[in-house]
Amino acid sequence: MVKKKTCVFISGQGSNLKNLISRSRDNTFPIKISLIISNNKSARGINYAKKYKIPLVLINTKNRNYELKILKKLKKFKIEFICLAGYMKIVSDKIVNKFKRKIINVHPSLLPKFKGLNTFSRVIRDNEKKTGCTVHYVNNKLDDGNILVKRSFEISPADNEKTLKQKTQAQERIAYPEAIIKIFRYL
Ligand code: GRF
Repeated sequence: MVKKKTCVFISGQGSNLKNLISRSRDNTFPIKISLIISNNKSARGINYAKKYKIPLVLINTKNRNYELKILKKLKKFKIEFICLAGYMKIVSDKIVNKFKRKIINVHPSLLPKFKGLNTFSRVIRDNEKKTGCTVHYVNNKLDDGNILVKRSFEISPADNEKTLKQKTQAQERIAYPEAIIKIFRYL
């Protein structure tokens, strides 16, 4: 199997990045992480680039043309597929149009419910009975795009924001690889 050269975009912890790196070591997993892009030079996820010797590009989003720099790097590394993993910026048409159906994201709610930030506090405030995560194709709107995989769990009365985050991220670790396998199954 020829693995798709993949770039993971991060801004923070990188727990999904770590999981994807570990899954991609499996010969049967369809992608190889060839590049990591971070818009945050203090992101903890950056350490995985060093640890696993994966090229890293830091982006300063205050520069007006930062997406052009991203596109240049994607070209240089011959990137075929993009995974957003806790990347806290909206990706514009410049990138999305070049990677149609080749760019996906994971969001910590059952979309279309609770788009945007602070999902866990809103889930609790609205007395939801269940929550979870969604992996979806990316377009230029916030947390939009066709859905690939959703995984949910029941919320217990003892849950709080912290436990919801832990439980949601446990589901993300299953859902994200599942979505990638789904995309490349028939290629
Ligand atoms: C994840 O929970 C994901 O749903 C959201 O941002 C969070 C970042 O997690 N998009 P990490 O950086 O992968 O640890």
